[in-house]
Amino acid sequence: MPYHPPEPFRIKTVEPIRLPSLAERKAAIQAAGYNVFALRAEDIFIDLLTDSGTGAMSQNQWAAMMLGDESYAGARSYQRLKTAVEDIFGFKHFFPTHQGRAAENILAAALVRPGNAIPSNMHFDTTDANIRARGGRPVNLVIDEASDPQNPHPFKGNLDIAKLKAFIEKTGPQNIPFGMMTLTNNAGGGQPASMENIRAVAETYHAFGIPFYIDAARYAENAYFIKLREPGYQQKTPLEIAREMFSLADGFCMSAKKDAIVNIGGLLGTNDDAVAERLRNELILREGFVSYGGLAGRDLDAMAVGLYEGLDENYLAYRLSQTAYVAARLKEIGAPMIEPPGGHAIYLDAGAILPHIPHGEFPGQALTVELYLEGGIRACEIGSVMFAHPDPDTGEMVYPRLELVRLAIPRRVYTQSHFDYLVQCIANILKRAESLRGYRLTYAPELLRHFTARFEPL
Ligand code: F0G
Repeated sequence: MPYHPPEPFRIKTVEPIRLPSLAERKAAIQAAGYNVFALRAEDIFIDLLTDSGTGAMSQNQWAAMMLGDESYAGARSYQRLKTAVEDIFGFKHFFPTHQGRAAENILAAALVRPGNAIPSNMHFDTTDANIRARGGRPVNLVIDEASDPQNPHPFKGNLDIAKLKAFIEKTGPQNIPFGMMTLTNNAGGGQPASMENIRAVAETYHAFGIPFYIDAARYAENAYFIKLREPGYQQKTPLEIAREMFSLADGFCMSAKKDAIVNIGGLLGTNDDAVAERLRNELILREGFVSYGGLAGRDLDAMAVGLYEGLDENYLAYRLSQTAYVAARLKEIGAPMIEPPGGHAIYLDAGAILPHIPHGEFPGQALTVELYLEGGIRACEIGSVMFAHPDPDTGEMVYPRLELVRLAIPRRVYTQSHFDYLVQCIANILKRAESLRGYRLTYAPELLRHFTARFEPL
């Protein structure tokens, strides 16, 4: 039995949760149009919809919030956050924002012009949308191993350097205002990139004079994967590894709702004075003055403390091994998933669990609904509901290769017995998998349909 470090904390405040009866769950999911986004939180027992903004803050974060300075400009809270951000990320300029996509919006507004292309390993969907909203083209150049769920590659978030060089040469560096990398790669299963790869990406962008920005939402988890898996990093602290990562880049944007363990907040930074000037003006227009960026002073204080807690070695050892524990238990019961597991989530392979349900009948949706019916568990479909679209030329439906269901793990929130319960629920579903049926859409908006679509069982 492999050793899994227990929670490096004990519970001081509790938030009651309740498993509604099967009859209540059936009524709730039917009323929600079989879309878990339309469920009420009180109808959910274990919520694995996202790890974003759902973490539990520590006593030090709550205490820090009491020190929040709500001065409009130059607040003490801002100074404290500035000290932390400069210490960890080291960029010349930084701005708070209200969350990650606000930082992306401001970066894209300042730098992306129609016809530009922005390469990355894989863009998260809000980054993708913010680039498109400015007339740019997001391009995903992750290594091929990333699309094989069984491939045990330790750094499936790596960007393919050969593809990147070819892409820049074909597109012309003058059409690429900046290049990116998402750490860890959420859209590709929460997989990390190695320091060797991040360095090679930076060198490639820089050889063509292209600035390099990191989407740092889960940078601390990425740093700890480097410590665990990359030769030469075993003796370094996550903070030292993070500093090395960011020293390779020219700027970053970040949702602080993940690795800074706050319920709201984001960050944006750059080394470029001229870019900083544009970001500053855009920020003041859209988010707020530069010393609060759409947040309350107390939010800045919670973030300043949370940034260091997210880098704490005992916390990260527990965090990544919790995900590994769930994956190991799921493997025991034969549940197919993306392997090795990423940092913040397990991605079940619904296509493999329900091979009798075709893409057009949404196997990921069927599994997501069944998880709710079985155990009051809320997961997130990442398959044909989210990504299938008609080909613009032929009108024929184009389906994603993988039909996934993401079980995202909020930080410091659920215990091992919650996850044992989850595994038992999945084992029960696997036993009756053949009897599950697909779904039909009864309503779908044109864009981002997974949020508001409604379904009917077939
Ligand atoms: N970048 C990455 C890699 C993300 O995972 C997210 C959010 C964002 C940017 C946007 O940040 O939500 O603060 O505006 N991911 C959440 C998720 C929503 O569930 O994976 P935000």
